[in-house]
Amino acid sequence: MSSFDTANYPVEFQVNGETRSVRVRAADILLYTLRDKLGLTGSKSGCDNGDCGTCTILVNGLPIKSCLMLTVEAVGKQIVTIEGLMNSRVQDAFVQYQSLQCGYCTPGFIVNCQGLLNVHPQADEETIRVWLESNICRCTSYEEIHNAVKDLFAPKNDGKPLSSGS
Ligand code: FES
Ligand code: FES
Repeated sequence: MSSFDTANYPVEFQVNGETRSVRVRAADILLYTLRDKLGLTGSKSGCDNGDCGTCTILVNGLPIKSCLMLTVEAVGKQIVTIEGLMNSRVQDAFVQYQSLQCGYCTPGFIVNCQGLLNVHPQADEETIRVWLESNICRCTSYEEIHNAVKDLFAPKNDGKPLSSGS
């Protein structure tokens, strides 16, 4: 292992509207920096391989799997984690439709759904279905999740301002 692999470097980026400073190695993964160094444990590790989506965060408003992103890549970016979506419309919808069982996948689904609202605020049902394919629910709560998300995009909700996440 070279000294470059083990050295710690100071980096700074925005998380949930706050400037956070942390020392990391060049190879450190953002998911684990958020969880282990910044105390933001809402983003979960499911596969560490980009497949399950439970680690999803927003980077400049777009959903990204944080298990596939280096911490150093976050410098200069606006990061939003599930903690930054507390009391958001998306969270409210998931609660209203009881769209969870064990809840392990829920942070990733909520963050990904917020990303869809940011990018396609008037997404149709097919767009919603395809967008949510990037997240896996091992408890198979898909019907309840889809009901919550469809309600968010229903015509009666069009144009409502989002409480956070963009
Ligand atoms: S832990 Fe990142 S996609 Fe599964
Ligand atoms: S609610 Fe358990 S994995 Fe989705």
